[in-house]
Amino acid sequence: MERGRIARRWTGAEFAALPADALCDLGLRVRRVQDAFAAAGTASASPAAEPSEAEAPAAPAISPSESETPAAPTASPSEAEVQATPAISPSEAEAPAAPTAAASQASAPALAIDDFRFAYRRGANATPALDIEHAELPQGGIVAVVGRNGAGKSTFAEALCGLNRCGGRLTVGGRAHGRKRRTRASFMVMQDVNHQLFAESVLDEVQLSLAEEDEARAHELLRALDLDDVADDHPLSLSGGQRQRVCVAAALASKKPLVVYDEPTSGLDLTHMRQVAALLRQVRDTGATQVVVTHDPEFILSCCSQVLEMESGRIMENYALDAAGMRRLEAFFARAQAVGGEPWEKRPM
Ligand SMILES: Nc1ncnc2c1ncn2[C@@H]1O[C@H](COP(=O)(O)OP(=O)(O)O)[C@@H](O)[C@H]1O
Ligand SMILES: [Mg+2]
Repeated sequence: MERGRIARRWTGAEFAALPADALCDLGLRVRRVQDAFAAAGTASASPAAEPSEAEAPAAPAISPSESETPAAPTASPSEAEVQATPAISPSEAEAPAAPTAAASQASAPALAIDDFRFAYRRGANATPALDIEHAELPQGGIVAVVGRNGAGKSTFAEALCGLNRCGGRLTVGGRAHGRKRRTRASFMVMQDVNHQLFAESVLDEVQLSLAEEDEARAHELLRALDLDDVADDHPLSLSGGQRQRVCVAAALASKKPLVVYDEPTSGLDLTHMRQVAALLRQVRDTGATQVVVTHDPEFILSCCSQVLEMESGRIMENYALDAAGMRRLEAFFARAQAVGGEPWEKRPM
C-alpha cells in the first residue's frame, strides 16, 4: 500500500519469488535471516559493512605505550578498550566532545557491571529476572542485546538506566555510577514508547529532551527521521513506527552519554531502520555509549559493534562484531530459528 491506496498486488507465489533487491526497493526486509548475513558478507559497500568500520577507530587510536601491552594481534576492540588507561573522567563522559571522539573511544574505560541482580517478586519463589555477576561494555560502542522473549533484556535495559531497583554496581574508570547518577546520565527509548510520549506536538516532544532550546537541531533530527511533515501533529496521532522514531529523535536530542533503546526498529521498514542506524552511527561518533535491545539482524549488521546474548537473566555471550562475531551472531539466530517463535520471524515489515 502507498498513501492509503493499494499500489501493487502479488500472489503468494509471486511475492515469494521477488529477488532481494526488489524487496529492498520496496522498503521491505529480508525474508530469511541468512539473507541479511549473506548481504553483509558480500556487499562491502553496503551499510552492513559498517560494523568493521565502527571497530576501526579503536585500534589506531591506542597510544604507543598501550600498544606495547601484550595484546594479541587479534584482540577484539572491547579487549583493547578494557586494557586502555581510563582517559575520560566521569564529568567528561557526560559531555562527549565530537572532535576527539575517536581517540576517546579508543582509550575510554569500559562500563563495568558487577552483581546486577533483580527479581520482580520477593520471597522464596522469586526467580531473578536479572543475575549478572560481571560484564563489560565498550564505552562509545553500539551494543546489541539479543535473547529470546523473557530473557531479561528489558529488565537489563532498565537497570542500566537506573529505572528499576536492581542491586549491584556500574563503574566507569573505577568511579561508581549509582542508580540516581545513571538516571541522570542516560536516556531510554522504551519497548512501549506510548509510556514516554507526553508533549502536545512532535516538535515539542523532541525539544523537551534538548538540554538547551535549539529548534533548528530539533528540526534537523525530525528531517533525518522523515518526521518533519508531522512536526506539529500530536505524537499519539502517529503510526507506531512514527512514534518509535519520535522517541529515537528525543533520545538523540538528549545528548546523554548513555542511550538505551528497547527494540527501536521492531515496527520499522527498511528505509526507516536504515535512518535510525545512520543516526546511531552519528551518535557513536560523539563518544556516547549506546545499548540496543533488538531482534533485528539487519539492524545489528547496519550499526552495532558488540553483541550481548542473554538467557534467563544472564549474559551468556559478549563479543565484538568482527568477522568471527558475525559468525557467532548468525549461529545465534540460526538457533533461535530452530527453536522457533522468535518475534523477528513475525516482525511487521
Ligand atoms: N513487571 C513485571 N512483573 C513481573 N515479572 C516481570 C515484569 N516484567 C518482566 N517480568 C519477568 O521478568 C523476566 C524478564 O522479562 P523481560 O526483561 O521483560 O524480558 P525480555 O525483554 O528479554 O523479553 C520474564 O520472566 C518476565 O516475565
Ligand atoms: Mg523486552
